[in-house]
Amino acid sequence: MPARIIDGKIIASELRARVAGEVTRVRREHGLTPGLAVVLVGSDPASQVYVRSKHKQTEAAGMASFQYVLPEDVAQDDLLALIAKLNRDPAVHGILVQLPLPKSLHTETVINAIDPAKDVDGLHPHNAGRLAGGSAALSPCTPLGCIILTKSVHASLEGMNAIVIGRSNLVGRPLLQLLLNENATVTSAHSRSRELAKLCARADLVYAAVGRPEMVRGDWIKPGATVIDVGINRQPSADGKTKLVGDVAFTEVSDVAGAITPVPGGVGQMTVACLLVNTLRAACAIHGLPKPAV
Ligand code: GUN
Repeated sequence: MPARIIDGKIIASELRARVAGEVTRVRREHGLTPGLAVVLVGSDPASQVYVRSKHKQTEAAGMASFQYVLPEDVAQDDLLALIAKLNRDPAVHGILVQLPLPKSLHTETVINAIDPAKDVDGLHPHNAGRLAGGSAALSPCTPLGCIILTKSVHASLEGMNAIVIGRSNLVGRPLLQLLLNENATVTSAHSRSRELAKLCARADLVYAAVGRPEMVRGDWIKPGATVIDVGINRQPSADGKTKLVGDVAFTEVSDVAGAITPVPGGVGQMTVACLLVNTLRAACAIHGLPKPAV
């Protein structure tokens, strides 16, 4: 039987609707409008698409959206001055600096300048450390989305064997921590791992986040496993255009897996929805309000 398709489009749209409901309530009860500031440096076309989508969805959820586009050759001090201004701005509860940054800028210095209370990307060492320590933290959006998609199939991840392929700060590492916090048994695999297929063979949950098109093959997968594909790779297609493919060989893996996310229409949809969740949570925390119901 082919795998059940985990529909990120529907799950993300339900999540956005729940966020919008909570935004309405928080505004009515507390006069608070959560605000998200997104900073884009340069003109990378993929980043421009992501930033536009963040702006549209932030406004659609009833939040305030602030966008800053800086030139590719901006001085690092000018970017840090903008972040300092946003840190002080009471209308801004979430700050996201779109990555990757141009090579002339030091990403770690820029991320570390964000007030951890407004770090809706969950990348500041304060939040990464809290997540690793099992405390409440703002967690990176894509891994959060992966957990929500997994839970649409499995109510509890306790005791399940999970493998995360990829160890980036944005996805792989925080995903390992989130899975541990869900009491899963976690294996971290990466470009230096040996016998990846064997490591995957015992996994109930497979997360592919390596950025290598269709790397995960059907014969790696335990029958019935849940496969979450974080990859977004652009490949030339037969009609001379480009198509998106994931890190998972979708057709062959879906013959073996129990459930699988498509690309597009899977994890990608969840990232912005989780960014809205984090902005709402940050706004409530900054104002000393109870955690929202989402
Ligand atoms: N670029 C691709 N994904 C992300 C993300 O989740 N956050 C940021 N800041 N940049 C990204």
